[in-house]
Amino acid sequence: PGTPLVDPHGRQHRDLRVSLTDRCNLRCTYCMPAEGVPWLPREEMLSTDELLRVVQVAVDAGITEVRLTGGEPLLRPDAVDVVAGIAAMTGEDGPVEVSLTTNALRMPQLARPLADAGLARVNISLDTLRPERFAAMTRRDRFADTMAGIAAADEAGLHPIKINAVLQREVNDDEPLELLRWAVERGYELRFIEQMPLDGGRSWQRSEMITGAEILAMLRDGVELSEVPGRGAAPAERFLVDGGPATVGVIASVTQPFCGSCDRLRLTADGQLRSCLFARGETDLRTPLREGRDERDLTALIHACLAGKQPGHGIDDPGFLQPPRPMSAIGG
Ligand code: GTP
Ligand code: 5AD
Ligand code: SF4
Repeated sequence: PGTPLVDPHGRQHRDLRVSLTDRCNLRCTYCMPAEGVPWLPREEMLSTDELLRVVQVAVDAGITEVRLTGGEPLLRPDAVDVVAGIAAMTGEDGPVEVSLTTNALRMPQLARPLADAGLARVNISLDTLRPERFAAMTRRDRFADTMAGIAAADEAGLHPIKINAVLQREVNDDEPLELLRWAVERGYELRFIEQMPLDGGRSWQRSEMITGAEILAMLRDGVELSEVPGRGAAPAERFLVDGGPATVGVIASVTQPFCGSCDRLRLTADGQLRSCLFARGETDLRTPLREGRDERDLTALIHACLAGKQPGHGIDDPGFLQPPRPMSAIGG
């Protein structure tokens, strides 16, 4: 093993989030405009071999966990092959853990093959239990398909299943307890996420955001919460619901940043390495890869990217600028 993946702020990096595509089959209002965004041209996207090569270099450099994101990662035709390729890699702590964040629409067909390929677990986005509201929030009438996808992931044993919900004021902010009861009944871990300024439409306003504190107050109206200690580098602060064993999480990235313990690097579908969701710059790995540069050169580029990592997202800094690419192109 070479030099550990430590940045100038002393944070050791073990987690790589890989975006498989910037495309999506939903159009969540807090993520993408109705017409979508200009998709990456096919030739700019990493091929399966290129993607696996970069991940292998990152694993050799110290990455032990890989999360596949998007866009919607399951829109990529070779998603199962990517999972199989990464699950076969061995890192410092043993086999690399591969997980996936998805909207579950393609899970009915893919849950089994993904589990067989070595996928460990899934996080699924679901903001509402009301079909009409789902259609309004995602601009697609696919609530039933999402529910079928969640059930399929559950049946395929992709546990623990975490459900991600973004709350929006006067859109779905009356639903946290309903969502929680639904998740607890099924043994899923629900997490509420503060909306971050990463939307394609650039309409995020801090004053409109539902804060982690507000979410906790709404939950405490119906259940008793006690904090689970030992959070580590996880974005979610977790609570036992009514004494447990069920838990609920709050990901308060904006008001309670977890940047101090961040252990993540990100690879976009077009082969750019990012040190942070909010990084202003990217490190191009695709060009050197296609020029046939060796593992040593690529590893040096990973370290160079890490050397530029900022201490935090800076959302509260006076000169904060939203990154040029939306979340769907960076990877969630
Ligand atoms: P677990 O390993 O299951 O805890 O996954 P996760 O919560 O890290 O990943 P997931 O893809 O489910 O993301 C949940 C939310 O956390 C999304 O809104 C992500 O954008 C956000 N998130 C994930 N990683 C980071 C990060 O490094 N920084 C910030 N600010 N938000 C992040
Ligand atoms: N802020 C916070 N979370 C977001 N997600 C999508 N857009 C945003 C945003 N602007 C969530 C999705 C998905 C996860 C990957 O990120 O709901 O669950
Ligand atoms: Fe890490 Fe950047 Fe996320 Fe903070 S905002 S946790 S530094 S990726």
